[in-house]
Amino acid sequence: MKTTNYSRIAEKYDNNQYRVDELRFDYDLKNHIEKNAKTEYNVLDLSCGTGLYLEKQINYFDGININWYGLDLSDQMLKKANEKVKNVEFTNANVEGMSYDSEIFDFISNNYAFHHYSNKQQALNEIYRVLQIGGVYKLHNIVIHDMPKWWVYHYFPTAYYEDLKRFWDKEVIFNELSTRGLEVNLKVEYRMENVRVSDYIDYAENRDISVLTLISDKDYEEGLERMKYDVKNNPDKTIVNDFAEMFCTAKKK
Ligand SMILES: C[S@@+](CC[C@H](N)C(=O)[O-])C[C@H]1O[C@@H](n2cnc3c(N)ncnc32)[C@H](O)[C@@H]1O
Repeated sequence: MKTTNYSRIAEKYDNNQYRVDELRFDYDLKNHIEKNAKTEYNVLDLSCGTGLYLEKQINYFDGININWYGLDLSDQMLKKANEKVKNVEFTNANVEGMSYDSEIFDFISNNYAFHHYSNKQQALNEIYRVLQIGGVYKLHNIVIHDMPKWWVYHYFPTAYYEDLKRFWDKEVIFNELSTRGLEVNLKVEYRMENVRVSDYIDYAENRDISVLTLISDKDYEEGLERMKYDVKNNPDKTIVNDFAEMFCTAKKK
């Protein structure tokens, strides 16, 4: 599978307003804390990127004694995270070989990153190792198998084939977590709607969606031209867009 070079995306990653706006209070973290009263907690944002999740949650959970950690493979993404949040212990490393002690984290969040891992089995072994007994791993990602009509695939069809090479299906994720002895709760939120193509041109032009860096420049340029052509002919043009997100929590027994 091809991998995305995040040093080329880091500067423009946060320009994608969707990434900032969609981040909400993490109720799973809140529930975990409420059910497991302790004097302090260790929380890791795995593949933390530019620190969007950490920035939000650190504010929300102000007043609770949480040691925050962030790990990412890209030093450029971490540089942006470092500018954003203080009092976080950042580590520049691959999830497949983390230097943390075993069983130290109460909660691990993992947003939009699992498909990037080349050796997913090893990534899960490591996640399991660093999670405390009773600790929760929370995987949040898009579910590409349930969204073949995503606007990205509509205009950049080769992107779908690249994504099929790197995303695990939800059943595989469920089984791989369960066989490791985790108690898994997986839900998928799906929606289908008509969207205005003009609303998505900025996203396409920013090219921060990782799969758009994996297709050829030719396929990318052609797709972008098609979008612009459609909008020029009809500024109100809509297409059917589907979108599916997975929220999966896995508790170590
Ligand atoms: C789409 S970004 C998500 C960033 C952040 N979680 C967010 O939601 O904005 C994917 C991140 O995964 C990181 N990543 C990719 N492969 C990785 C690996 N093997 N180990 C650790 N991080 C990795 C990338 O550097 C990038 O920051």
